[in-house]
Order: sequence, then structure tokens, then C-alpha cells
Amino acid sequence: MKSDVTFLGQVINVNSSSVEVKISDDIPSAAPIVEGKLYRIGQIGTFVKFPLGALTLFGIVSSVSNTASNDQNSENGKKSSRYLSVQLIGEKQGDDDFQKGVGFYPTINDEVHLVTENDLLSIYGNSSEIGLVEIGTHSSSERLPIYLDLDKLILRHSAILGSTGSGKSNTTAHILKSIVNSNQGSRVILIDIHGEYKDAFPTEAKVLRINDTDNPLVLPFWLMNFDELAMFLVGRQPGQESPSDKRLREEITARKYLTADKLPAGKINEEFITADSPIPFSIKELWYDLAREIVATYKKSPLNEQTKENEADIIDEGSVDDLKYPKFVDYSMTTSEPYKSKHELMNIHEKKILSKLKDSRFNFMFSPGIYEDFENYDLDHLLRSWIAHDKPLTILDLSGVPFELIDLTVGVISRFLFDGMYWGRYEEYTGRNRPLLMVYEEAHSYLPNSSENRGVFGYARKAVEKIYKEGRKFGIGSMVVTQRPSEISHTILAQVGTYIALRLTNSADKSTVSSSAPNNMTSLIDLLPSLRIGEAVIVGEAIKVPSRVRIPLVEPRPSSNDPELAKAWSKEFIHDDEQYKQVVTSMRTQKPIQRK
Ligand SMILES: Nc1ncnc2c1ncn2[C@@H]1O[C@H](COP(=O)(O)OP(=O)(O)OP(=O)(O)O)[C@@H](O)[C@H]1O
Ligand SMILES: [Mg+2]
Repeated sequence: MKSDVTFLGQVINVNSSSVEVKISDDIPSAAPIVEGKLYRIGQIGTFVKFPLGALTLFGIVSSVSNTASNDQNSENGKKSSRYLSVQLIGEKQGDDDFQKGVGFYPTINDEVHLVTENDLLSIYGNSSEIGLVEIGTHSSSERLPIYLDLDKLILRHSAILGSTGSGKSNTTAHILKSIVNSNQGSRVILIDIHGEYKDAFPTEAKVLRINDTDNPLVLPFWLMNFDELAMFLVGRQPGQESPSDKRLREEITARKYLTADKLPAGKINEEFITADSPIPFSIKELWYDLAREIVATYKKSPLNEQTKENEADIIDEGSVDDLKYPKFVDYSMTTSEPYKSKHELMNIHEKKILSKLKDSRFNFMFSPGIYEDFENYDLDHLLRSWIAHDKPLTILDLSGVPFELIDLTVGVISRFLFDGMYWGRYEEYTGRNRPLLMVYEEAHSYLPNSSENRGVFGYARKAVEKIYKEGRKFGIGSMVVTQRPSEISHTILAQVGTYIALRLTNSADKSTVSSSAPNNMTSLIDLLPSLRIGEAVIVGEAIKVPSRVRIPLVEPRPSSNDPELAKAWSKEFIHDDEQYKQVVTSMRTQKPIQRK
């Protein structure tokens, strides 16, 4: 066997986590050619194998040195000896498939061999198996495609991590393309904060975007629970309940009662309705009614008699739809009627609500298009427009959502979809029978770790953590994409089954990955700062063997390319007075400039 071209050396030390190998001094070259292919001995991240009769163990080289750990061999002066530390990753019995994990360990003096491309092919499997998606090629061999197990990638959740510009968006686009191109019935929702992905999926995706004429993204405000809505409308902190908050809660609940028996998706009995139920009501009417009791004048003076029936004469009804105050005859300066309104409790709330309703940036919530007609369009219609259409991918382009609303928006979207999957878990058209993948781009900006609070109140984090903790059972999986893994919710990272880690230079980020990554794959994680752009270390459940993988550049690309700075700065630029007008208008209206 020692004459075998793949022979490398022998085992000199074994412990539970690694095997030490002395490379034979007789190996003529550090880069032998086997079956026409050049191999490099002792490269970190490469594989070696231990043939033990019918059983073959496989391991990954995690370190290389010229001294053995117990240093007994250096006394003979052979300083040129080389030693490898190898982490065992799996085994193969005869012609059976490769299995992760090992049942046996090698012993001292067992032989160690190079792993050839054919061995690798048999480890990694091939594309004819269903449920595999291609992600790229092995870094040490362009001929070796690497596949991920789709079930595990999605239902055991995943994360794509890497410093800015390391190729995360490209990786995300490539994986999604791979998934949707080979799975016509796939259901994926991509939360796209910067509107980058539309260009990458010209035919595969339905893109919903705020203010879009064909496919507007709307999120009816009544999908928010009371905590969320009250926080947004009047700044109420969860747990607080002033008398005015209590009145707001009662008003909302009462209005939900009124619509509950007209719902197109089915009537709801009063006993099931709370301020949190996702049942429509008219928020403009709510404002108008509060405003009216405040600005009205009355025929009676005591507060409890200042009711609608006792209103003084009205001059102008104002308008619910246009948010115009009604006008009443002036109150008397003497002690006779009409009397001034004594309704003061809701004074501040009323004004806060009005300012939110008037802010056109929030129209996607407060004027939610067809869903304002809630006697004809209900949430089932909204759900179908997101996850039950003829495209395998839905991009929710949140680039028009004001920054301070991203947390709430992602939270409401995620909770709505989670609840839809949870309550439909046994239906044949959704839930466990038709799972859903949620992809969260730029997750650090709205899924921060709980200890940090930078204007983010944790609505999104709570909803997404729930998907990570419980989603699998109801057919909902998740993938987060972020440049700051150390800032992201630890609960989320702890539930990630598969890590796709691109170049990561920040040491806090790197140690977050190495502490949460499975399989004790620290040696591969150590490679993170030195990876090339578009190169990733993949570890975890969806990949047979932890691997260093090259991800191809996708075409068409997401619009996240680096600007061509040198080219732009090298030429003189002509200025004119029309420039920046549209930019400023966009800044004011928060509507993107139409691109030609
Ligand atoms: N696999 C790849 N091969 C070659 N070049 C790549 C690859 N992936 C990305 N690039 C290049 O790197 C640049 C940044 O890529 P990308 O936008 O995917 O990075 P990112 O990690 O998403 O960055 P950000 O954190 O800013 O969102 C792009 O200009 C792209 O052309
Ligand atoms: Mg990106």
C-alpha cells in the first residue's frame, strides 16, 4: 500500500477531537499528481482518508506544523518532518454512501492517504438526487460541484454571513436561483431592504413594492396587534396603559366588533375579538370620532352629558376621508349654551393619530389600496398575493419603507406569515405540505441582539426568533443574511443549522461564528479572514462535509455592485441646475426616482 500514489503518512497520535499524522519523509513531492490532477499536501481545509479495511474514515486538515505535539520525533534531528492535525468528519463503508460522524477511530501507525477527486465526488453526491441544490464548486477543484440538502437548508434554517462587499447578495441570489430554477413549486419570500434583487430575477420573481402601480406592497395597519399599533400611533410603550391608552384600546375593539360579521373570509363571533385580533376597522373614522367630540360644542355642560345627541348645531361636517375637522357653532362666552367641549382625555392622542394618518410615507399601512374595501377584500387575498401566485419567488421590496418603520414592518410581515403557516399547517395547499422559506437581507439592521436598542423595539426580532425556534414544525424556514453576525439576535444564530460564511474580518464577528457553528469546525472558521470574494466556508446540516466553496457570479446581477469609483472620478463632470431636484423631491416624498 505504501507504494500507492495516494499514500501520505501514518497516524502517530489520536484523541477524541483530532488525529495527528506524520507525513512520510519518503514522499517525493509536496504536490503529487494523481490521475492527472495536481494535489497539494498539507493544505488547511483539504481532506485525507484513513482506509481501515472495508471502512474508510475521512478527515479535514486543520493545522500543519514541523513539530509533533509530543515532540518525540524531533530528537533524530529530522526537522524537515511535517505533521498534520486532522479533524475526523465522517466514514464510508465499502460502496455505501458517505455518512457524517464516525463510529471508529484510527489507531497508531494506521495509514493516511490523499483524498482524490473521485473520492470527493462520492462524498459529495451528485445532482441526480432530488432535494439537492447546487451552490458552487469546491475551492480546491472546479470540477467538483457542491450541493446543499434543500430540506435541511430550509427547515433547519441558515445564515449567510460576511463583511461588506464579500459577496453575500451574490450568494443569496445564486442560492435562490438554484432553488427556484430546479423547484418549480418552491415558495420563497425575500425581504429586500434596499430593493437590490429585482434585477437579478427578471422572470422568476413577483416583486411587491410600495407605491408600485402594478404590484403595490401594502400592509394594512390592522394586522398590527394593539401594542404595535399603539406604539406606532401614539408612542405607547408596551406594558403601560394610561387612561387615554385604555380608551384607545376600547375604541379599537368596539370597531372590530362592527366589522367582524361582514368579513369575506368568514364571520367571527364577538367572544373571540380583542384589540389584537387582525380584523379591519376604519382608523380614519376612529380619528374623526375622537376629533369630533373634542371640537364639538354642546347643549349641555356636564362632561357625561356632552354626548353626540347633545351636540350643538354643526356648520361643516368636515371629512373622514380627507381628515378634515368638523365645525360647530362657537361656544358661548357666558354660562348659557352652546358649551365648550370638556372632552380632554384624548386631546394629545387625537393629534398624534392625525399626524400619522397625514404622513404620506405611511400610506402603505393606512391607505392599503383594495384592502380599504374590507367588505370585499380580506387577509386571505393578501396572503395569496404574497405566497400563492404563479412565481416561485416573492420579493417584498421594502426600500420605500421609512427607516423607523422597518422593524415594525418586518415584524408584522413575519408574524402574519408565521401565523398563516401555523394555522394552515395541516392544509394540503400550505403549512407542512407546502413549506415556505423566508430570507432576511441586511438582517443586522432590524434583528439586533436584545441587549442593544438603537431605535429598534424588537418587533421583527420577536417574530423572526419565533420562526427560528418553531417554524420547522409548521413548514416555515428562514435564512438571515448579515454583515454583522455579532450584532444579530443570539437566539436566531443559535438555531441556525447551516452557516454559509464568506470573508469575515472583524474578530468579534468571527468569534460569534466560531462559537455558534456546529461540528467543532474551528479550523475552517479560522480561514474566514483570508477567503476570496465570493468564496465561503459552509458548515452545518445541509452540507455533507464542511467545505470551502466558490460561488459563481450570478447573471443578471442584483443591483448591489460596487460603484466604479475610479472610472467615475477620472473624468471631468458637467454640472447643471436641473441636477438634484429629483433627488430632493424623492427625499421629501420618499418615493424612488423612476429609473429609465
Ligand atoms: N462570487 C463572486 N465572484 C466574483 N465577484 C463577486 C462574487 N460575489 C460578489 N462579487 C463582487 O463583489 C461585489 C460585492 O458583492 P455583493 O454585493 O454580493 O456583496 P455583499 O456582501 O452583499 O455586500 P454588502 O454587505 O454591501 O451588501 C460586487 O461588485 C460583485 O461583483
Ligand atoms: Mg449585500
